[in-house]
Amino acid sequence: MPARARVLSRPGLRPGLLLRAPFARRSWFPLDQPGCSAWHLARVAVWQGLRALGLRPGDRVLMPAYHCGSELDPAARLGLSIQLYPIGADLAPDLGALARLAPGARALYVTHFFGFPQPLGELAALARAHGMPLIEDCAHALHGVSGGAPLGSAGDAAIFSLRKSLPAPDGGLLLLRDPAAPALRAARNFPPRRALGGAKMLALEHLAARTVGKRVRVGAEIARPAPRALVADIALDPAAADLGAAALSLALARAEDPARVRARRHANYRELRARLGAPAGARFPLGDPAPGLAPWILPAIVGDPEAVRDAMIRSGVQAFRVWGETHPAADLDPGETFVFDALGVIP
Ligand SMILES: Cc1ncc(COP(=O)(O)O)c(C=O)c1O
Repeated sequence: MPARARVLSRPGLRPGLLLRAPFARRSWFPLDQPGCSAWHLARVAVWQGLRALGLRPGDRVLMPAYHCGSELDPAARLGLSIQLYPIGADLAPDLGALARLAPGARALYVTHFFGFPQPLGELAALARAHGMPLIEDCAHALHGVSGGAPLGSAGDAAIFSLRKSLPAPDGGLLLLRDPAAPALRAARNFPPRRALGGAKMLALEHLAARTVGKRVRVGAEIARPAPRALVADIALDPAAADLGAAALSLALARAEDPARVRARRHANYRELRARLGAPAGARFPLGDPAPGLAPWILPAIVGDPEAVRDAMIRSGVQAFRVWGETHPAADLDPGETFVFDALGVIP
């Protein structure tokens, strides 16, 4: 399987983009919306969004049983009561279970896993019927368009992660739909020196992937079943809960063309699917992305994630495991751990 090492698990920073950044002023959804604010990370945007929606300690929020942990951490730190709802093998919410859990809940949080849309019509109707806000987690879905509308435009709030889809050193966006909501502003921004350091790393990764090809191993991670414990990098640092995005990240984001991002992500996805073929024992739960989407990574349910990871890395593709752990505040039913146990991802 001679896949190319230019397939990195995070977007490489092309020198051209860096040169254009100081002059580029592209505006795109959600940056062009009045209720949009920019934060250091998406988890900061979640924290800010939950507070702006008026959620209070003890309020019950419905969140997906399959999760990263960094979206749950702000809710846990706010003292919200996190109620997990089941996610099926198709990575979609169990709508029947959600309907049973909805009475009395104060918010419905949905995640467009890996850039693929959840059934927003049904979810918005359920949230409306129970008088609770719908929060769209678009951390994987920046620039995705579904049914003619950008992902993140159906919810009362939506959060986005710049650094997952774009070569930006940091950045999370929060979109609040209520026109009466007071504008949110960060107390201070991620320091320029640290942002520049991050951008340098992204540029070097890009360069290395282009030049030394197959031997690149930058940041490759291990697909190993992990203990279910909180690890530092899913936590919201309370000292950074009002930290804004670096100016450099926003400039890089504005320099990139969303149509190009969508096209590249589709091309990568197609190439990976074509080269992988139909390996024995593997299942691709999400199928092919519809044209307007910007798929983040290719998830695969595999019997032996370590062997698959090793084979992928040998062939020059950074395969890794997402989300081997759940959050300690999450009371996960043993029957619902299967996605955590089986899912590996390929960028
Ligand atoms: C679904 C989801 N939501 C939110 C986040 C938080 O993103 P960030 O790392 O930018 O805080 C992540 C990140 O890993 C995620 O996967």
